[in-house]
Amino acid sequence: MKKLVIIGHGDQGEIVKYLVMKSKKYHLLGFIDDEKKTDCLGRITDIPLLINKAGNFTVFIAIANNLVRSKIYLKLKKMDINCINIIHPCSIIEENVVLGNNVFIGANTIININSKIDDGVYINTGCIIEHDNSIGSFSHLAPRVVTGGGVKIGDNSFIGLGSCLRNHINLGKNTFVAMGSIVTHSYLQDNLALRGNPAKIFHSKKEIRNIYQ
Ligand SMILES: CC(C)(COP(=O)(O)OP(=O)(O)OC[C@H]1O[C@@H](n2cnc3c(N)ncnc32)[C@H](O)[C@@H]1OP(=O)(O)O)[C@@H](O)C(=O)NCCC(=O)NCCS
Repeated sequence: MKKLVIIGHGDQGEIVKYLVMKSKKYHLLGFIDDEKKTDCLGRITDIPLLINKAGNFTVFIAIANNLVRSKIYLKLKKMDINCINIIHPCSIIEENVVLGNNVFIGANTIININSKIDDGVYINTGCIIEHDNSIGSFSHLAPRVVTGGGVKIGDNSFIGLGSCLRNHINLGKNTFVAMGSIVTHSYLQDNLALRGNPAKIFHSKKEIRNIYQ
């Protein structure tokens, strides 16, 4: 059985642990977390030491914040460490969907044909990602997001709970979509914050991006 370490011992880490235990595919060595001192194997900088002790292992970065997740992913790449995907067994991902590494797909999520999900993307519980979508790296789709066919979401974006994105719309990088938004047309500029029905730009508050991205 392959050995696995989960990076991040918060809520997302616990969800990932639950799915890993349920799958019985990996031998979970434990968590790595730069902030938690107890119940963890150590910090990210301790990884080489851990490999010396425990042998090679794969990892999953279970951190909801897009920016933090992407930074850790790059560090791990430099260390030549592989990231696995965590796919809930009750999700439907059509056969020709292309998935990157360190992708999380939650329960009851459906991803239709010809879609491409880049590295580090989180697609949470109950989302519907229609055909020919492209979800940029380290983006996070909260539960119940629905996208029509041919939607493109730029890297590091956050799409809030229950939002709907009309077919063929295109969003720039670092886009923040507030929960419950209905996005009816493309916003190609990077770093925008959108909300409402129909969604409009409200501001591009740095704090929002720090919390969710
Ligand atoms: C956009 C968001 C960050 C605003 O949160 P906030 O800064 O705490 O804002 P507040 O709740 O103080 O509301 C401020 C104003 O914005 C309005 N507002 C807040 N969220 C809104 C939304 N999603 N759509 C439209 N208006 C919204 C409020 O009604 C309020 O208006 P008012 O000043 O006229 O009363 C938050 O609503 C949001 O979307 N969070 C994402 C939640 C999510 O998807 N979590 C994922 C968990 S996996």
